[in-house]
Amino acid sequence: MSAHFEHHVFFCLNQREDGRSCCGNQGAEAAFDHMKSRIKALKLNGRGKVRVNRAGCLDRCSDGPLLVIYPAAVWYHFDTPADIDEIIDTHIQQGRIVTRLQVE
Ligand code: FES
Repeated sequence: MSAHFEHHVFFCLNQREDGRSCCGNQGAEAAFDHMKSRIKALKLNGRGKVRVNRAGCLDRCSDGPLLVIYPAAVWYHFDTPADIDEIIDTHIQQGRIVTRLQVE
């Protein structure tokens, strides 16, 4: 059985208001928007291709902000739009893990 999506990306967008560290306070929403629009511009979105979804806390807060790509189950920490571009270009388009951003 083939996967419904080749790459299913989940961003932690958890936003805490009590001052504790969270991905939502570290640019996760902007990174999510950036990936969504670039995946669409590249026409990579849709069935059999790439889906980018919001997620709540993924329970790795001290490694954040982060995303995970299934079914490979590869976790990435990101800081800049260039990091997101590298994940798209290298992991999603070329099928190679971006080791410098990977969180084990
Ligand atoms: S707040 Fe992002 S993993 Fe917990």
